[in-house]
Amino acid sequence: MLTIGLCAVVAVATILITHWIYKWRNPKSNGVLPPGSMGLPFVGETLQLLLPNHSLDLHPFIKKRIQRYGPVFSTNLVGRPMIISSDPQLNSFIFQQEGRAVELWYLDSFQKLFNLEGENRPNAVGHIHKYVRGVYLNLFGVESLRTRLLSDIERTVRANLCDWAGSGETIDAKTATSNMVAVFAAKHLFGHDAETSEDIAETIDGFVQGLLSFPLNIPGTRFHKCMKDKDKLEKMVTAKLKERILCPEKGQGDFLDQAVKDLNTDFFLTENFIISVTMGILFATVESISTSVGLAFKFFAEQPWVLADLEAEHEALINKREDKKSRLTWDEYRSMTLTMNFINEVLRLGNVFPGILRRALKDIPYNGYTIPAGWTIMVVTSTLQLNPEIFKDPLAFNPRRWKDIDQETASKNFMPFGGGTRQCAGAELAKAFFATFIHVLISEYRWTKVKGGNVARRPMLRFEDGIFVNISKKHN
Ligand code: HEM
Repeated sequence: MLTIGLCAVVAVATILITHWIYKWRNPKSNGVLPPGSMGLPFVGETLQLLLPNHSLDLHPFIKKRIQRYGPVFSTNLVGRPMIISSDPQLNSFIFQQEGRAVELWYLDSFQKLFNLEGENRPNAVGHIHKYVRGVYLNLFGVESLRTRLLSDIERTVRANLCDWAGSGETIDAKTATSNMVAVFAAKHLFGHDAETSEDIAETIDGFVQGLLSFPLNIPGTRFHKCMKDKDKLEKMVTAKLKERILCPEKGQGDFLDQAVKDLNTDFFLTENFIISVTMGILFATVESISTSVGLAFKFFAEQPWVLADLEAEHEALINKREDKKSRLTWDEYRSMTLTMNFINEVLRLGNVFPGILRRALKDIPYNGYTIPAGWTIMVVTSTLQLNPEIFKDPLAFNPRRWKDIDQETASKNFMPFGGGTRQCAGAELAKAFFATFIHVLISEYRWTKVKGGNVARRPMLRFEDGIFVNISKKHN
């Protein structure tokens, strides 16, 4: 009797599990799903995506599936059903549908880390997005850069390069840049004064690096340290915010200043929201700029001829000055054509943000398929940036290619800063920072790569073993 009962339980369990696996593999849809595989129960195909790819090429996870299924395929990553699109038409449709057919989406782990749930969700569309975007653009946009930020960037870059060279030590360019940008961002976001206050560069670096590590929160792991650094930073930002609410006079034209002014007038703005936004921007700024500068050092070492082109541009720029020691002007910055081509090429191959996430708000028809409502969509624009028809020999680092690429071709095939209404609000700041760094570095310093420079995508781009350089001042 017992045996029959046990057999029945096992049979029912087997049927239920088989049914569940069948449902996992064949998720519900009101139409035909784009081709693909949902992978293993629970983990989906996450592990394949996390396998490191030691090249600047598209991650094999995406490349292989595009070859097998075409430019749009379905999968399951970190427990979420997902559509991955490298189709330019669908991508530009998705960028245009912000707040209508799709909304901004972050991976669940990121939402938790940045407290982006409930009232803090950055995709609470319309009003909130417009407000936050307006504040960023006001703080970090072209006008701000022209009138006040460019000179501050130059001051920051000069002081840091001087320290790096003066230390007489081998510098990990990625980490050192990360620290430099962190101090700059902390000053402009929450008025942190690096000279009189605690040095928080390493705390910010720990927070940023840990965010990209495996989210295992036990003592000894990078992620655990990240959580500690995050708590410390949050406490610091909270204290600054409270202080600013009490004494708005202490404001210095930074993000908190603006946010505190609006705290009383904008109904949705809460203290928690302000803190989350500050932490998010800290991450966006530090990681993107430091990875790009790290890549610049890698490419200088691998393609030394690139340096000669840039040296000629910066020498000519300085020779035109009446006072050779005068500071970089806005017009000079705007005249750096070869430097901009170099930056474009770093961004094209670096492809710092491998995918842009959205969530379908309704069923989206596509070429006879249906993207179901509620599914995550990952827009991959990097396939365009590696398209050999537009970028000949696409894996070669060649800034000279940009002189033959017209504006229209570039805008359709080169989207390192995303597209549509969510296009990067820090793009101008990132380019100005990078160009100023190149300007001071090339005109005043020499360097040699000592070791490192190997990269891996997991799927975010990381330096495996840093990028170590010896820097010294030129004797002009
Ligand atoms: C190399 C440097 C950078 C790259 C490649 C980059 C890339 C991107 C991309 C692809 C997006 C679109 C995300 C989406 O559509 O979901 C984005 C958005 C954003 N980025 Fe950047 N970024 C860079 C630097 C920065 C910096 C320095 C800041 C600091 C102010 C910044 C702030 C933002 C913000 C606020 C958004 C959201 C804009 C919105 O939702 O309206 N980024 N970035």
